[in-house]
Amino acid sequence: MDAEAASRIDAPHDENVEVCRALAQHVNARSTDLGEHSSLISPNFYFDAARDEAEKRNIFGKMPMLAGLSKDIPNPGDMLLFDLVGPSIMVVRAKDGSVNAFLNMCMHRAAKLVNECGHHARFICPFHAWTFDLQGKLIGVPRKDAFDPEHMESRNLVCVPVGEWGGMIFVKPHAGDERIDVEAMLGEFAPIVSLFALENAHKVAEGRLDFDANWKYALDTYCEGYHVGFLHSKTVGALYLGDLIKYDAFGRNHRIAFAPNAYKATMGKAEDEWPMIPYSPTYYIFPNIAINIQPMEQGGSFVSVHRIFPGETVGKGFSILGTYKLDGAPTDEDRHHYEAAHELIMKVVGTEDYSVSAGGYNNLKHAPAGFRSVIGRNELGVQNVHRHLAEEAGMPL
Ligand code: FES
Ligand SMILES: [Fe+2]
Repeated sequence: MDAEAASRIDAPHDENVEVCRALAQHVNARSTDLGEHSSLISPNFYFDAARDEAEKRNIFGKMPMLAGLSKDIPNPGDMLLFDLVGPSIMVVRAKDGSVNAFLNMCMHRAAKLVNECGHHARFICPFHAWTFDLQGKLIGVPRKDAFDPEHMESRNLVCVPVGEWGGMIFVKPHAGDERIDVEAMLGEFAPIVSLFALENAHKVAEGRLDFDANWKYALDTYCEGYHVGFLHSKTVGALYLGDLIKYDAFGRNHRIAFAPNAYKATMGKAEDEWPMIPYSPTYYIFPNIAINIQPMEQGGSFVSVHRIFPGETVGKGFSILGTYKLDGAPTDEDRHHYEAAHELIMKVVGTEDYSVSAGGYNNLKHAPAGFRSVIGRNELGVQNVHRHLAEEAGMPL
């Protein structure tokens, strides 16, 4: 293989060469990565309200959540809101370039300081104009002598655990002073995710999709390649060679690599003549993040950052899709290509994946007693994710 042409990544990397080679082998052998066994899953896994509560408490109430990518807040004073689960949180780029996170709660009478992402030199509460600097320090109180000094201690903003690494910003959805060591959290997955420089990914658009299914049924659709050539045959599935993936688990995280149609160029050739062809990875970061990178026809690549969340009840959920240009800010010339990619993925996920999710979830609720879904050896990402989610929720399968 020609390592010079490795993927879209500037520096060819052994890992990428390995992925490309493995996909080419699958293409030529008409094979795919398989686990050892298929497995069974009870419908109850999806609609048990007690499990839903446990997941909300032990996973979405405690674990680091992806708040955004670094370039969402490139400059000091840039702030993004994370209020998808738990309290409303402000993530703020400080003057020294680091990030801090605070509860979006004024320390006077708890009003929300901000209602949308934006740029701030300081935060001025809309209620009575208490003012906080970018470090969360209380720096202004109108008619300050109305407040007894002993009641004015600890009136700085409340910190939230935050960490930034590899172009991603994580927060924990509760108060706390700790820094999140994202690299340590990802462990052996960290060097894999950093093969694609998310540090330089610029947001083009963001959208929300609500669905009538348990969040795990929707999440499952991101964790296997089996359906892509069938469910998405008229849309994104047509871009890839179907039911063909390279799957690698890294702790609780995984990568699924897909082979774009260009891999047909390896067919019938001796292995040492295979061209190096960019692959399309989906990174799953435990518990609810799927990041997919796809090459564009016009050149360049776009990144789809999906975050999937449980809704108010066990049978409702939603996801946020952020679409990014992988390498640099979109220009006047290419922005519309990325916007079109965003619209396409919103449509595919909404009308194909989540439509199936809603129908399947509803069927599971009414399935005959004793019915079990069967998860194939070619769906081992789904198997692994279920097992890890169950462990973290404290309710084994
Ligand atoms: S609640 Fe913010 S200034 Fe009063
Ligand atoms: Fe899908």
